[in-house]
Formats: sequence, structure tokens, C-alpha cells
Amino acid sequence: MLSGKRILLVIGGGIAAYKMLELIRLIQKAGGTVVPVLTRAGAEFVTPLSVGALAKSKVHEALFDLTSEAEMGHIELSRAADLLVVAPATADLLAKMAGGRADDLASTLLLATDKRVLVAPAMNVRMWQHPATQRNLAVLRGDGVLFVGPDEGEMACGEYGPGRMAEPAAIVQAIGAALGGGPLAGKHVVVTSGPTHEPIDPVRYIANRSSGAQGTALAAALRDLGARVTFVTGPATVPPPGGVEVVRVETAQEMAAAVEAALPADAAVMAAAVADWRVANASGQKLKKDGSGKAPALEFAENPDILATVSKGARRPRLVVGFAAETTDIVAHATAKRARKGCDWIVANDVSPGTGIMGGAENAVVLISEVGAEAWPRMGKDEVARKLAARIAEALR
Ligand code: C5P
Repeated sequence: MLSGKRILLVIGGGIAAYKMLELIRLIQKAGGTVVPVLTRAGAEFVTPLSVGALAKSKVHEALFDLTSEAEMGHIELSRAADLLVVAPATADLLAKMAGGRADDLASTLLLATDKRVLVAPAMNVRMWQHPATQRNLAVLRGDGVLFVGPDEGEMACGEYGPGRMAEPAAIVQAIGAALGGGPLAGKHVVVTSGPTHEPIDPVRYIANRSSGAQGTALAAALRDLGARVTFVTGPATVPPPGGVEVVRVETAQEMAAAVEAALPADAAVMAAAVADWRVANASGQKLKKDGSGKAPALEFAENPDILATVSKGARRPRLVVGFAAETTDIVAHATAKRARKGCDWIVANDVSPGTGIMGGAENAVVLISEVGAEAWPRMGKDEVARKLAARIAEALR
């Protein structure tokens, strides 16, 4: 899978650094070579001797190493690689990357490179959830940096939650996908996400509570499997993922046009919460109280059903997946919806207020396909996305 590929591996200072020995082995087993870079903190957790012996390579450590500079300058070092991998990526390394710092060899290489960067974060759950780290992540995603993990689970510090580094096998898979070797390589997938805003007048609109979290996670998971993703998003609260083509829209009509323009595709995944109705008599001027005490009467027109149009259209992708947010009789309603819309799968979820799913981090879904209904246990939206992306890859094989 990684035959002939050269991976520059930046090893940060975290307890998971010891797993880099296994990662190096797995990359080599897949046919790749590893050039290791050890940060000063990384060297506290794993020795240059073991890293170098396994990688069969010089371990690069210092920025001002004259022997290294004579052999290969740091600019060249960062560009001779096919991919840069940062693992474990500590909160400090992420902050340096987001800020464009270059005060040691690792950060300088990351700033000087013209190649893609894949990051496997690992840190304490509080550090991961801190607004500063989340801000840095958003910046890095915007810069097109790829991420694998972190996983949720028990941590070395005794706490539980997101922050555990992805397992080396998952990192190798992400490396393969980043280098274009994933199971969805060469496939184009259109993803819709977020709410739509339907104007009432120039300052007011009708919207819904969709955050765009599930659609964003899906686009990232499809990208991680190697797909070219066109991400058509309404005004979501969650920032779009890096490494995908982002098309921003506001209304359902704009979304329909953007999806049409993005076709042909191998698959379409419609995770957007599209408004069924728009205001037919939207005003060009701000509506004002006229003193009569009479409320303005809004008239509604039906929006195009993007999912049904794509499913029944001449340029129908091979696989069309819709979502169904329901509050009662989930399976029955979703099964009927699948037939009505003409899509292949419906991912149904219960968005009753008590579930905390709409706008929350978790989802409990039922996958409705031609073979029936399959209930998945409640899990993080990222995990739902990864599982669904793997299914999509299987279906498109
Ligand atoms: O009919 P309902 O809105 O419940 O259907 C939900 C599914 O249909 C979602 O996949 C949503 O993205 C899609 N949809 C659409 N265009 C609409 C309404 C819904 O693509 N106008």
C-alpha cells in the first residue's frame, strides 16, 4: 500500500511515543520508508537509538546540526518526503503548527514543507477539549491538515474521554488514504451538510437547529478513505473539514443548484437539514411594524427535494444515501421515506428533545437499506461517520 513512499515522521513528546516503534514497523511492512524526526520532548519518551535502529535511518533532532545541514538541509528534508506525519501530536505541537512557529527542527520542517501533513493528536482529555486546542484544530483543518483520531477511551493519566492517540494500524490506513491509496481513491462523493437559511426579509430568516456536525464528520471520514469530496454546506456552526472542496450555500435552492453542479459523482450523501418550505413572499426590504397591530402574513412555497431529485435524476450516482431525523416510529417512517425518495440507504435517527442528538456529539442511528433495518449502538458522530464511510467504500467497490 505504501510501496516506495517516504514518510517523514515527527515524534512528539507524549506517552504514546513508544507506539511509534510499532508504527515504523507497520509502515515498513506496507512498503514505505520512515525518516524520523524527534522533538526534544519526544526524546524524553523514546530513545533516538531505538527509533533509528528500527527506521534504519538517521534520527533528525536539532535545527542547527551542521552535519545534517551539509548532508541535507531542513527545507530539502521536509520536501523529499511524500507525506509528513506528526505522532503523537501534543497540544503544544498543534499550537506551534497553528501559529506558524519555527523554533525547533520539527516545527520548522512543518512550516517549510510543500507536502500534506497528517496529524495523530494525543493528549489529556481536558487539554483536548480546551477552547485553545479546539481553536488550533479549526485553524489547522482550514489549512488542509489531515487528522486521524484521537480515539475515546481510558488514558494513561487515568481519565477517560477523547484524547487517546489513534492506534498505529489506523494511522497507517490514514497514511495510505492521504497518499491516495485508500479504498475510495479515484471516487467522487458529494456530501450535503448543515441547515439552510430561508430569508423572510434581508435581515431575518427561517432556520433549524442542525449544527452540521454529522455531515462534517462524514466528509472527513470519506476524505480519509481517499475520496474526492465536494462538501455542500449551509450555514453550519461546525467549521468544514480540510482537504475537501467546500461549496457554501444559504438556501435550499442554492444547495440544489450546487449539488447539481457537483455531479457526476459515485455517491451522494445528503446529511443536510434542508428547509421544506421557503418564504414565497420574502420582502426585499426589512419588514416593519406599521402601527396597525396586524402581523405580516408569510406565504410559503415548497423547496426542491434535493435527495429525491438526485435519486430519480438522469445523473444519479451509483449510491445515494439520505438521512431521516424522526421523533416517532423511526424505522417505519424512515423505511417509507427510502421508498418515497428513491434513495438506496436512509440513515435514520431519533432527534426527540430528550436524546440530545441534534446539535450534540453523539448519534444513535438505524441504517435502512434494501435488506432491512440495522440499529447501530449509540456512539460519537465521528465514529458513526467512519462506520458509514467504510460501508460506502464497500458498496462502491
Ligand atoms: O423529507 P425529509 O426532510 O425528512 O428527508 C430528509 C432527507 O432528505 C435528508 O437526507 C435531507 O438531506 C434530504 N432533503 C433534501 N432536500 C429537501 C429536504 C430533505 O435533500 N428539500
